[in-house]
Amino acid sequence: MAARIALDPAFVVADVDPRLFGSFVEHLGRCVYTGIYEPDHPEADPDGFRKDVADLVRALDVPIVRYPGGNFVSGYRWEDGVGPRGQRPTRLDLAWRSIETNEVGTDDFMAWCATVGTAPMLAVNLGTRGVEAARDLVEYCNHPGGTYWSDLRASNGNRQPHGVKVWCLGNEMDGPWQIGHKTAEEYGRLAVETAKAMRWVDPDIELIACGSSHHRMPTFGSWEATVLEHCYEHVDYVSVHAYYEQRPADRGSFLACAMDMDGMIEDVLASVDYARARGKHRKRINLSFDEWNVWYMSRRAEEPVWTQRPRLIEDRYSLVDAVVVGNLLISLLRHADRVRIACLAQLVNVIAPILTEPGGAAWRQSTYHPFALTSRYGRGTVLRTVVDGPRYETSWFGDTPLLDAVAVRHDDPDELTVFAVNRDQHEAQPVDLDVRGFGGLTVVEHTTLSGDDPDAVNTADDPERVAPRVLGRYPVDGGRVTVSLPALSWNMLRLRSG
Ligand code: AHR
Repeated sequence: MAARIALDPAFVVADVDPRLFGSFVEHLGRCVYTGIYEPDHPEADPDGFRKDVADLVRALDVPIVRYPGGNFVSGYRWEDGVGPRGQRPTRLDLAWRSIETNEVGTDDFMAWCATVGTAPMLAVNLGTRGVEAARDLVEYCNHPGGTYWSDLRASNGNRQPHGVKVWCLGNEMDGPWQIGHKTAEEYGRLAVETAKAMRWVDPDIELIACGSSHHRMPTFGSWEATVLEHCYEHVDYVSVHAYYEQRPADRGSFLACAMDMDGMIEDVLASVDYARARGKHRKRINLSFDEWNVWYMSRRAEEPVWTQRPRLIEDRYSLVDAVVVGNLLISLLRHADRVRIACLAQLVNVIAPILTEPGGAAWRQSTYHPFALTSRYGRGTVLRTVVDGPRYETSWFGDTPLLDAVAVRHDDPDELTVFAVNRDQHEAQPVDLDVRGFGGLTVVEHTTLSGDDPDAVNTADDPERVAPRVLGRYPVDGGRVTVSLPALSWNMLRLRSG
């Protein structure tokens, strides 16, 4: 029996917030220095940003980018990064035990955002700093003028406010590895006071409270509920972070880790909604999944300390990793009603879809492709997608579906896109796509990411080794069509009227 993917236009989940396709630039390793910024590179623009990297970022289509951390932000003095470059101090970055030269700071990042056509999402330091530094930064970025901080921005060459809309109230404050780590009570109190002050400066900003760093934290769930007891009315989102890696000889579980993401989203929402009911709040708080990716933490080697631009966590991604990233995007889309912002962590070099060599090439990792295509074709209205089909056993999840899928409908042009993965490592899966509720459609494009070698990676010398292939277009007969999803594959099916 063929597996079945069934959709109906009436079963709407939600409109996708384009910020679901955000990313993240941290002062970590070579994400900023020799990543987005390298003034002596032949491709550098007059501001020192790499044009080859900017082109790849533009084509990736990330509408929002989180900055400047991450763990880095918990020790950051934002004032170090503004003003004339030659006068900026060099500091120890305790988070990544690196030397931070502050050649790139807030105004430079804003200029880069404008170049690549994205919006900034700034995190404030609630590790070593607090209310005052945060409200000063909002004033520096968003106040029109006539005050100390806004005039300083103008004198630094930015007469117009930056208008930063989305702000993170610190980063992973539940983590003992964080400078200024806090209990949920301590953080909840600090978050509410910081939120109040930031909003008094600019009432139009949106605020994200830190949720748990990951779901294995001992306080996962209770952290969110306690933090929100303090700041529910003052924030708009709670953050969620998750990284996945393949354990030795357990590819089957890794391929299904979107099930873990599904569960995590539902668990965090349970805590958030519990806080709502408990506090008798009317408004709903949604999620900002502002760090997610595949990250091979177990491969982390001894890292250099107190160097500039160290090569830190520069994971190389394979075809399998790309299928998993595509599946994690399916999970995010499935929860588009409550996950309104998400950031692929990170953007360049550091666990990233884009790699660079200092002075050399920039190229796309395997994971770039499902992200770029989902960002491009996954905007619209998510439809509830019923998937029936064969199952397999995994050590993480037990009984596990071999297929996963989600569908997004767009108005302009009138199109339906189905994103689907086949987790079967050896066999293609025939799938009966049931779209009878839509009237006459044609599959105008079936693109797949699949191949003979699950471990294949893209390199500077072979940058297209893992790349999407268009398999074809198929007529839909009476609202049904059977499509073959290759073994171990991520797929995109675009359907149009006629
Ligand atoms: O993205 C890398 C790191 O992972 C971030 O700095 C931190 O927030 C998380 O633990």
